[in-house]
Parts: sequence; structure tokens; C-alpha cells
Amino acid sequence: MIDLDFKYKDLIAYVKKEAPFGPEISIILGSGLGDFAESIEVIKTISTLELPSYPRSTIHGHKGSIHFAESGKKKLLLFQGRIHFYEGYLLSQCILPAYISELLKAEYFIATNAAGGINPEFIPGDLMLTTSFIGINLKKEIAELTGIPDTIKKQNFINFPSTELNKIIRQAAISENISLKEGVYWYNKGPVYETPAEIKMAKNFGADAVGMSTVPETYYAAMRGLKTASISCITNYAAGISDQKLTHTEVTETANKVKSKFERLIKRTLSEI
Ligand code: HPA
Repeated sequence: MIDLDFKYKDLIAYVKKEAPFGPEISIILGSGLGDFAESIEVIKTISTLELPSYPRSTIHGHKGSIHFAESGKKKLLLFQGRIHFYEGYLLSQCILPAYISELLKAEYFIATNAAGGINPEFIPGDLMLTTSFIGINLKKEIAELTGIPDTIKKQNFINFPSTELNKIIRQAAISENISLKEGVYWYNKGPVYETPAEIKMAKNFGADAVGMSTVPETYYAAMRGLKTASISCITNYAAGISDQKLTHTEVTETANKVKSKFERLIKRTLSEI
């Protein structure tokens, strides 16, 4: 087992010293929600560059900031820019947003991301609430971080994603008149998009959307007892679902278009927690 508290002792001291409050809810701002912090009241921002041991984002358009913010009366921790496994980082680094959220005793953990739509009923611009994840190839590595005996003991009790939080998100979508799709998120380690054959396989295995993030940190958060959920912005048809060639530009363009819908869904969710 990797002793994260030892590995991150300087980071822990820094976060504890700088945190203006203990947040109730943590959110990872993925594509489409990158500007969310600008639409709410930010109390304090920490640049991830100042945070000991925190990896630098190498992805264009991913900022490295952690915001302490408020929306309504809710105290929030926002991670602007995430750490991807395909950037060459270790899983023990990818889970840092969840680790910091637990450190500061957040009760809820919401991850947002961009994903390719596999389900033929999904169109770019849709939002999808994750009902389950396919990320089997990461389980052992995450268990090495949370502790193998503990993982085995907890496996029958883990609620991932959180039934309670998913119910709140569904209700928020209804209240905001947002059509919210639901489905299974398939994790591809990346960094390259899938082949049409891989998407066909994933579809046969029951996947509705595919992405290269979220599973490491959400699975870790859920194992550590945070109520965890994930929402995807379907930015494109997954490979082979349409004839169009997939590009990162298409992903960011669609994400920008759904920005206001995504922000409304998150704000409403926060007010209903
Ligand atoms: N595949 C993997 N990751 C993604 C995609 C995709 O089609 N779209 C956005 N992120």
C-alpha cells in the first residue's frame, strides 16, 4: 500500500494552512464547466503550481486552480483543470482532487467531463448522468491506494455512483427543464481516441459514453466514503458512430456551446443538496 499521508505531508500542511473553510461539496470542472468559477462567488484561489507535489496540467485549455467558493449558502471546492493518467502521472497523483476533498471533509464529490457518445440516441451537446462505470482495469491500482483489506471489506457497501446524489441531480434537471440522458461511462486510459472497433466492443459491453478521465478520482472518492457522482457532456459521436473524424477542437467547441446548460444543472444541484 502507498502511504499517501506520508507522500503528501507537505501538501496536507499547505492545504490545511490555506483553506479558508471546510467545503461541503467538491466539483471537478471538466470541459464545458471550465468557467464555472467565474459565475459564482470565489472566496480564495490556490494555484496548483504553489501546491507541493501537485502535478502541472499539460493539456491545452486546462487551468490549474483550486477555488474555495460559495453558491447559495453552499461551501464549495472547485478543481479547475484535472490530472489525467495519460499525461504520464501516477494514479496516486490523479486521485489528488478526491484526496484533498476528503482531507477537507467534503461530503459530496461531483466530477464533470467531456465524453464521446456511443449510445445512438445521444447527440453532441447532450448531458449524461453516469449510472455506472466500466473501469475494471483500474480497480487493483486504486485498491493499493485505499488499502487492499479495507477495499475487500467495503466492496459490498460501496455506493458508486451515489444513489442519493444521482437522485438530486435528476431532480435538478427536471426543475431546470434540462433533458438529462443517463448511461454507463467507459474509461479509456487514452491519450488517443478509440478505434471504431473498440467502440463497437464497448457498445456491445453496454457502454453509452466513453472518456479518458473521472474513473480514477471518483472511484477513489467513493471508496473513501464521499457521495460521488459524475456528469458527462457528450461532445461528439464516438469513433465510428458517425462518419465524421473526431478532433479535440470539436470536443472543446461543443463543450463551449453547452456551457450555460451545464452551469444551470450544477447550480440547481448545489441548491438541492
Ligand atoms: N473518446 C474519449 N474521450 C473523449 C471523447 C471520445 O470520443 N470525447 C471527449 N472525450
